[in-house]
Amino acid sequence: MNQELEKLKKQATEAIQKAASTATLTELDVRYLGRKGELTNMLRTLKDLPENERKKAGQALNAAKNELEQAFAHKRATLEKTALEASLKQEFFDITLPGTLRGHAIGTVHVLSQLQEEAERIFSQMGFMIVDGPEIESEYYNFESLNIPADHPARDMQDTFFIKQKRDASHGRLVLRTHTSPNQVRALEKYGAPIRMIVPGRVFRNEATDARHEHTFNQIEGMLIDKDISIATLKGIMKEFLSRLFGKEVEVRFRPGYFPFVEPGLELDFSCLLCESKGCRVCKNTGWVEFMGSGMTHENVLRASGVDPKIYQGWAFGFGLERLAMMRYGINDIRLFNGGDLRFIKQF
Ligand code: PHE
Repeated sequence: MNQELEKLKKQATEAIQKAASTATLTELDVRYLGRKGELTNMLRTLKDLPENERKKAGQALNAAKNELEQAFAHKRATLEKTALEASLKQEFFDITLPGTLRGHAIGTVHVLSQLQEEAERIFSQMGFMIVDGPEIESEYYNFESLNIPADHPARDMQDTFFIKQKRDASHGRLVLRTHTSPNQVRALEKYGAPIRMIVPGRVFRNEATDARHEHTFNQIEGMLIDKDISIATLKGIMKEFLSRLFGKEVEVRFRPGYFPFVEPGLELDFSCLLCESKGCRVCKNTGWVEFMGSGMTHENVLRASGVDPKIYQGWAFGFGLERLAMMRYGINDIRLFNGGDLRFIKQF
């Protein structure tokens, strides 16, 4: 028994030493210490020994078992360490680098939203409330209530997106609003006069896109209705708004313009900031940049909104947010705003 045990121990120890992989080590483990392993078998024969030898033999076998278990554990650790070192040599990485070095990419507010927020802030400071309205409008609010007759070219299929739905007897068909102006009537109906408000929002036109035209763009509508309101108030408010927005003194001028819901109708230009009105490509050498449509609110619009034109009068305006952003940042293609190109978006 003793000799047999010594032989087994020597054999197993040598095999463990030579093992080159953890897989071989596992095989050896099964072979010697497994349920049907060689050492296990010897332990089973203990009961056949005479009483006086049994104790000593038992101690020797258990000692051998412990020794082999330790040898296995030691060898396994050595093999694993070697494997790790080898892989570290192949693929180097700096374990001292902080885990959050690359951080998380936090988005930014879109340039148009930034501009809208700035405009909202300035108009709020001047006592205007900020109103919202539906993007899907009725023909009544988008046209009729604004004094735009049924035969007006803007109602043509070319310019307006119509929604496939039956005509309502009093409000007509549904359209994607072509401007934010329907909210002049909606706001007057809801809040009555006097009122000072702006309505920022998306508008839609059924037209071909190019560098200066988009089917979807943003406007800011403005309206002030009160007693004794004149074009002078409009001029003062717009000069103040643009000067605060650009952070320097801006001049404005009016030209005649036509919109069915204002009378008189006016186009407002502001002095070119890029060339200080000396003349450049942006202002087409005129020193002025076309900015918005405006005018004194038409009596028919006031009446449609339930406001008495004998007591109240005022004005309205509407400008495009994209136009303003293009002027401010020198952007030459309106399609960039919603084009999804991150190289453009991330600049703001
Ligand atoms: N709604 C007009 C447009 O989209 C702009 C406008 C608004 C003109 C208010 C006059 C008064 O072109």
